[in-house]
Amino acid sequence: MIQFINVSKAYKEHNVIENINLEINKGELVVLIGPSGCGKTTILKMINRLIEPSDGQIKINGTDIEAQDPIELRRNIGYVIQQTGLFIHMTVRENIEIIPRLAKMPVSEIVDRTVKLMETVGLPEEFLDRYPNHLSGGQQQRVGVARAFAMNPDIILMDEPFSALDPLTRSQLQDELVSLQSKLHKTIVFVTHDMDEAVKIADRICILQGGRILQYDTPENILKNPAHGFVSEFVGSKRIWSSPQLICAKDIMITSPKTTYPYVPMFKGLEKMRIDKVDSLIVIDEDNHLLGIVRARSILNSADKSLPVETVMTPARVTADTEENIVSLLEKINGLNISNIPVTDRDNRLAGLITNSSLVTTMSHQFIGVKGGAGA
Ligand SMILES: Nc1ncnc2c1ncn2[C@@H]1O[C@H](COP(=O)(O)OP(=O)(O)OP(=O)(O)O)[C@@H](O)[C@H]1O
Ligand SMILES: [Mg+2]
Repeated sequence: MIQFINVSKAYKEHNVIENINLEINKGELVVLIGPSGCGKTTILKMINRLIEPSDGQIKINGTDIEAQDPIELRRNIGYVIQQTGLFIHMTVRENIEIIPRLAKMPVSEIVDRTVKLMETVGLPEEFLDRYPNHLSGGQQQRVGVARAFAMNPDIILMDEPFSALDPLTRSQLQDELVSLQSKLHKTIVFVTHDMDEAVKIADRICILQGGRILQYDTPENILKNPAHGFVSEFVGSKRIWSSPQLICAKDIMITSPKTTYPYVPMFKGLEKMRIDKVDSLIVIDEDNHLLGIVRARSILNSADKSLPVETVMTPARVTADTEENIVSLLEKINGLNISNIPVTDRDNRLAGLITNSSLVTTMSHQFIGVKGGAGA
């Protein structure tokens, strides 16, 4: 775990990092994002002691890094930067192996590992004898990533590693990083300017402005509840719609739908609909389990309205799970003429109801650009 405790950095009295507290868990991929000059690179370089804080403490696994030898410290911290930092007069192999060789790792181990690393980052082994400037930008960046992993460090720092690449290559490398991370579970601190990139790869995103942390949370929570006007502006009010898989049923359902019990006489059910101004009720049992739906139309069509509502109750054609995302939901109702979707938890207990209007209202709010949650 990496901990920043009341850390500040000043250059000539001018604070560029203002008393930040930040915890990055082991195995977590945290993205630092914010406008140019907000202090992202400074924070990153304080972790491997390329920059020393003016105040406060940084701990890795509980140990203050100030007490550690910087060279030793950096052996356990891979570092990837935008301009790759590859040595152009060295081959790909020499670039990847330089630190393990300096660290006097057994040569046979190094050689085996290099071959594996090339495979991991998706480069053919023949490239090992090439020089970096005979590779494309994306390929060079892959070598940069391989080199960062060469010492099998627990921590990897990445400073805008993909920002010089074309969008397609960039997107590919993002996917590969996510897949690599799901296997290796490194602790990764990744700097970017690009919110789409952050949302795609991060476990948590730390939004910075002027050397301060504005919000530190999961991509989902940041998109849904931006903690600050600046964050919501930075994130963009329509941003969530580029990640609709993050919106789920529980976000758009009404939480107190009108319900009735199966044994209630129809005429009472009808009365309830009139009072509540709805044309159907959800039928539940005493434990709130979903049983079905009863419609005003069915009651009006039945001769004996003293019979219980369960006589005319129909099962819900479509139901949603509370965590089900909006994309899957829209696919389910696509083509069906459905106005109400009961939302249930894992035990089939009624959690809420999605109505046509709650769906439409949520979507139009987003598309028309009503600023949501821009408090503080
Ligand atoms: N050696 C230095 N002396 C004085 N000021 C510095 C020094 N290094 C960085 N700064 C200032 O510290 C602030 C933070 O710099 P930093 O490089 O961390 O920003 P950043 O968020 O990484 O920006 P970018 O997105 O442009 O890379 C900037 O205002 C910068 O001008
Ligand atoms: Mg920077």
